[in-house]
Amino acid sequence: MAEVTSSKPRVLSGIQPSGNLTIGNYLGALKQWVEVQKDYDCFYCVVDLHAITAEQDPRELRRKTRESAAIYIAAGIDPEISTVFVQSHVPAHSELAWMLTCMAPLGWLNRMTQFKDKSAKQAQESIGAGLLNYPSLMAADILLYHAELVPVGDDQRQHLEFTRDLAQRFNHLYGETFTLPAVMTPKAGARVMGLDNPTAKMSKSEESENHAVYLLDDLSRARKKIMRAVTDSHREIHFSDERERAGVNNLLTIYQAITGEPREDIEAHFAGKGYGDLKRGVADRVLETLAPLQSRYNDLMNEAGYLDSVLKVGREKAAAIAEETLKLAQKRIGFLAPS
Ligand code: TYM
Repeated sequence: MAEVTSSKPRVLSGIQPSGNLTIGNYLGALKQWVEVQKDYDCFYCVVDLHAITAEQDPRELRRKTRESAAIYIAAGIDPEISTVFVQSHVPAHSELAWMLTCMAPLGWLNRMTQFKDKSAKQAQESIGAGLLNYPSLMAADILLYHAELVPVGDDQRQHLEFTRDLAQRFNHLYGETFTLPAVMTPKAGARVMGLDNPTAKMSKSEESENHAVYLLDDLSRARKKIMRAVTDSHREIHFSDERERAGVNNLLTIYQAITGEPREDIEAHFAGKGYGDLKRGVADRVLETLAPLQSRYNDLMNEAGYLDSVLKVGREKAAAIAEETLKLAQKRIGFLAPS
């Protein structure tokens, strides 16, 4: 087993390998992951157990799991500093998730916005129970590592509150066991909207052609998608909360999230210009992000055995911590230790 030596506070986060990763995943999650990795002991997992809450093709799931891990590294996660692993490689996630599922009140689960949204799109009879119980699995992911900080996009805030509530409930019933995590969302880019429909969140499982820029999109295709983004019939280019102006606001927000420039400077930069200029400006910034990411991605996928060795080391480091926490939780709940 790998030794656990870091004294830095811990971070844990994950992305589902359930589709092609988008610039929403990058700006909402990955970019923050890279930013915190020097100051925290970071654990980043590819959450395949979460992905099967929707039907997955087994070959595709395997392929996407490797692809996602490679994208983490290509986006700037350094496996020498951070731990990159696959969720199902560490069985403690499933084991703690069951214990937490048994403690999670149905009322709390039923209130989860993501469950309500996703289940509304399916016939009641065919909704898998995993979709409802999913927040307990996410809580297990976080609590196993005593993570103090969880960098995510805006849509995961409610699941983080659920995790804190469930940890508190466990600690109250069985004694101090889990650390309560804090959520971390970026100042800009916490909720990137669909390019074709700027009132809906950009999603990797949405199939329409011009909805999302994928991190592995061909660069000319990515540019085309941005040039076709839905805007409005106004002229002025400024940030706005008005629904009608959601498209322009989304483009400006993507620009802000990438450049880190203050809003006033961005508005001044585009003052007097047209929507074509705005789209070109955003496309240039996005492509400047994608090009080096894709080149690193190709390099590391071509290096035989590299990714597998990262995931092997990651599994060992993650399992060492997760198993220790699991044992403590099992003891607290009253499971007889095997002799
Ligand atoms: P998932 O796979 O839907 O998304 C992965 C991460 O990307 C963020 N994100 C976005 N951010 C900004 N704009 C968007 N349009 C956008 N779309 C997605 C998400 O907020 C997330 O941070 N349940 C989680 C995965 C998970 C997890 C965890 C996260 C499982 N266990 C433990 C943190 C800690 C999910 O489905 O994310």
